[in-house]
Amino acid sequence: MTMIFAHRGYSAKFPENTMKAFIEAEKAGADALEIDVQLTKDGEVVIIHDEKVDRVTNGQGYVKELTYKELRKLDAGFHTTSKKEPIPSLEEFFEWLSMNRLICNIELKNNLIPYEGMEEKVIEMVRKYNLSNRIIISSFNHYSIVYSYRIAPEIEIAPLYSQRLYMPWVYAKSIRAKGIHPKLNTVTDEMIRVSIESGIQVRPYTVNKEADLKWLLSIRCSALITDEPEKALKIRQQIKPLK
Ligand code: G3P
Ligand code: CA
Repeated sequence: MTMIFAHRGYSAKFPENTMKAFIEAEKAGADALEIDVQLTKDGEVVIIHDEKVDRVTNGQGYVKELTYKELRKLDAGFHTTSKKEPIPSLEEFFEWLSMNRLICNIELKNNLIPYEGMEEKVIEMVRKYNLSNRIIISSFNHYSIVYSYRIAPEIEIAPLYSQRLYMPWVYAKSIRAKGIHPKLNTVTDEMIRVSIESGIQVRPYTVNKEADLKWLLSIRCSALITDEPEKALKIRQQIKPLK
């Protein structure tokens, strides 16, 4: 069965990467979540997509130049009718994740800013909450996921990429990844089939259109990452996968 990952939580309906979006994705029945992490000035791992707070909050500036206390005052739900939604810390998120069964893909956002010590901090927290078997660490920074695997081989890693790779299943195996996270427009039926047959899970992002959801669900792609978990779940219930 194709697993449904709610991208930044249930981000089509709720402020992305907030506890509200995560809780609503779980309520909707998603199998898993995808979250993005950055580091504050004082080294807290926080869940936010951009390097700057400008787009998703009522504040301004780089996450790396704000302390956690300063960042917590901002509202990530300011552009919606939702009540104030703070930027969550990874720890706060894990407190909640420990109480459910969801799988979680943590995307390390260290491809633009090479946050020193980010891998160690994330891994320490995963171990503290005993979540190793429910976490997949991904990044566009493949050096970082390989480093993560070196220090925590018990946690799954998956490379993210946005351009077509030649035989990505071979590349994945070479770095000990068990899955790949390709941009939707780089995947084909053949590439998905061969990857899965080679033992590599394929989890394309970001799949929101009905036709794309139907396609990936019908060919039993391993998983898909979507802003629209409810829509994806509905289609999954309706369609009969192709043999
Ligand atoms: O992890 C899949 C996807 O989230 C990668 O791109 O920019 O949405 O973080 P982006
Ligand atoms: Ca992401």
